[in-house]
Amino acid sequence: LDNGLARTPPMGWMSWTAFYCEMNCQKHPHACINEQLYMDMADRMAADGYLAVGYKGVHVDDCWMDRQRDAAGRLVSDPQRFPSGMKSLAKYMHDRGLTFGIYEDYGTKTCAGFPGSYGFLQMDAQSFADWDVDYLKLDGCNINLDLMPVGYPEMARALNATGRPIVYSCSWPAYLINQPQKVDYNVIGEYCNLWRNFDDINSSWKSIMSIISYYDHMQDKHIPTHGPGKWHDPDMLVIGNAGITPDMARAQMTIWCIWSAPLIMSNDLRNIAPVFRDILQNKAVIAVDQDPLGKMGRLVANTTDVGVYLKPMTPVDSATGETSFAIGILNRNPVNRNSVEFVLGRLGLSSPGGYRIDDLWTGQLVGVFRPTDSFQTVVNPTGANMFKATPVALANLKGLRFATFK
Ligand code: GLA
Ligand code: GLA
Repeated sequence: LDNGLARTPPMGWMSWTAFYCEMNCQKHPHACINEQLYMDMADRMAADGYLAVGYKGVHVDDCWMDRQRDAAGRLVSDPQRFPSGMKSLAKYMHDRGLTFGIYEDYGTKTCAGFPGSYGFLQMDAQSFADWDVDYLKLDGCNINLDLMPVGYPEMARALNATGRPIVYSCSWPAYLINQPQKVDYNVIGEYCNLWRNFDDINSSWKSIMSIISYYDHMQDKHIPTHGPGKWHDPDMLVIGNAGITPDMARAQMTIWCIWSAPLIMSNDLRNIAPVFRDILQNKAVIAVDQDPLGKMGRLVANTTDVGVYLKPMTPVDSATGETSFAIGILNRNPVNRNSVEFVLGRLGLSSPGGYRIDDLWTGQLVGVFRPTDSFQTVVNPTGANMFKATPVALANLKGLRFATFK
């Protein structure tokens, strides 16, 4: 959507995959959907370094509403769990340099059964603008699928008419997964800044793998329709949650960043081990995701266990047009390490002057390689390695020699 927003993939935190629709605040005072949960996460984002590296959105998901609209038909937040109201919660975020995201659904009800926007699109868009909302996730439960191409553009126009800049996240194609002929990402990209197009993630390797496999199979359709202002959204980062090891965390982060995917965490930032915080806050890795070219990387080589992904990125040589690349190497095997070796030129790294290659997870310089040189790395089970290859003409070489890699 060409509204000047989301020129790089949105980054932030969203409640769903970590806290779902827990509404029993007596039993779960620190893990229920209430205003305190979002304030706590905002505090952690600002104080623990997340905001400083780019995670700036705090996103309410489903289950924030009262069961009924008010007498005028307006949405209202649950009076027990959000007693201060959404405008005040937005202010809490803005006061800390964060942005505020909210959730609604195009249908008659949200997925969890709260009032949907069907028949109220203009009124709801105006409420969000009145509350100083910066981002809307509009889900697609409880609506006739043939109305998707009507309702999603209608909400886009309603948001635009409020005059407030609001990033617009659509779930439109996610509900058409069995009718791919009805999914035209050029059209969706005209109306939405980002969109979910596959199943909900959960905190498991199986779920991460199923998303990667779907995106692998769809890459020829996804890659050309992805870029600044219009992003495919493979769903939240589950890094820091039980069930996700550090290797799995690096794997999810590597592939999401290779894709230039939105980086929206769903975890408990009050209780996260330093190893996961460091993975989430790796600046060199985040810079791949946020690269201004905004290109979605491609699976360029594949075996049963290993996928090699390549993403063109800056810096670009203005004289030759040669780009730098991020390289992601994923090992899907659940138990075995894999040693991976390839000749750079075979995968498309063909700059005659060669490349400086840096390991983005270890922070180590690997060496300088010609297109005819072979590159080798060992990847942990359920893990991924990640490198940046910068054409020699654009790289800082500091007295390096060719083929320093052994
Ligand atoms: C759908 C969405 C999820 C979440 C829930 C809320 O399943 O895909 O991300 O928003 O609805 O009910
Ligand atoms: C192999 C892999 C899948 C997927 C496809 C893509 O079959 O096992 O996960 O990556 O390749 O072609």
